[in-house]
Amino acid sequence: MEVIANEHLESEKVYLDHAAATPVDPQVVSVMCHWLTDGYGNPSSSHSLGRLSRNAIQRARHQVAELIGALDSEIIFTSSGTESDNMALCGVLAAAPKSRKRLITSAIEHSAILSNINRLESAGYKVTLLPVDNLGRVACKDLEQALDNDVSLVSIMYANNEVGTIQDIKRHVDIVKPYKALFHTDAVQAVGLLPIDVNELGVDLLSLSAHKIYGPKGMGALYIREGVLIKPLLVGGGQEFNLRAGTENVPAIVGLGEAAELARQRLKYVDRLKKLRDYLQQELNRIPGIIFYGDPDNKLPNHCCFSISGYKGANLVAALDLIGFYCSSGSACHGLKPSHVLQAMGVAQDHYNQAIRVTLGWSNTIEQIQRFSAVIQDLIAD
Ligand SMILES: Cc1ncc(COP(=O)(O)O)c(C=O)c1O
Repeated sequence: MEVIANEHLESEKVYLDHAAATPVDPQVVSVMCHWLTDGYGNPSSSHSLGRLSRNAIQRARHQVAELIGALDSEIIFTSSGTESDNMALCGVLAAAPKSRKRLITSAIEHSAILSNINRLESAGYKVTLLPVDNLGRVACKDLEQALDNDVSLVSIMYANNEVGTIQDIKRHVDIVKPYKALFHTDAVQAVGLLPIDVNELGVDLLSLSAHKIYGPKGMGALYIREGVLIKPLLVGGGQEFNLRAGTENVPAIVGLGEAAELARQRLKYVDRLKKLRDYLQQELNRIPGIIFYGDPDNKLPNHCCFSISGYKGANLVAALDLIGFYCSSGSACHGLKPSHVLQAMGVAQDHYNQAIRVTLGWSNTIEQIQRFSAVIQDLIAD
């Protein structure tokens, strides 16, 4: 599989890694610009420039709340999906009564959740990791079995970033409610691709991130249901209802708000992404030895994760990069480490390093998909 960059070089680069980061929408850039230049007032200042910044934050809070069916006062702005996840876990456990010192989460969570486990255990908390089946689903019976009255929080991701599997969060919440534990979901990958209503779901906390929905990097939000007890990670000024100190990043907050508004308007077009993804899978299916991962009936509509027997994902991704196609091997955050998600799904060991993740976005076209599948077939034929 030797690739000479110029051999296949196309003038157009094709971006197929939207689960890692989306391009910032031009409309988002345009509204952010004012708050990077003229709108520099500190939202805590009492003068009119400060008031304008405060109002901009309020508008963005409303836009994010609307996207997930929350109240404005239930949205806390953070620096990332990672911070939202950390705050949900550490903040809820720190505020929980002494009799409830246990967290339940799943083996396929993002590292923003899993990396908390060691320090939580060192601090005296107990953590139960739920397994998943070969499609990446958490079974209701496993959750039911793990629950008891010592659990303060259950955290199960809405949709997985590596294989795209969507969990049955509503059913999981219904199972947890009688135990009076709180429920957090990391919806970083799901927001903008699936309609989400926090009240229909019944979740108590939900994480989201701006750069997955055509907003800026380094910006996130945590939904915290009214009445939920949580301690802040950052203390200082009284920003974000005393829950997240630090002068607000007004341009990024406004950017997230605009991205949330666009995401809400575009949800009705998501079927277009699914059709494109289904077409991609149909084309790739011609390749002998190809395996698709994730739950075929309940997968993010833009997501396609696969491996080709005998080919290392990272090598194929590097070869595709030279030709102008950007996709990733496993998840962007794990680099070359074997995927803990595929391991938890019981995928054979020699496939851990073979996965390629293609995640589509609004600008992808059928012509790009045709070229991509032709190029990948050429590469493995060489
Ligand atoms: C499921 C999931 N959770 C959390 C994160 C972290 O979000 P951020 O990059 O905003 O820190 C990611 C990022 O890829 C993710 O995919």
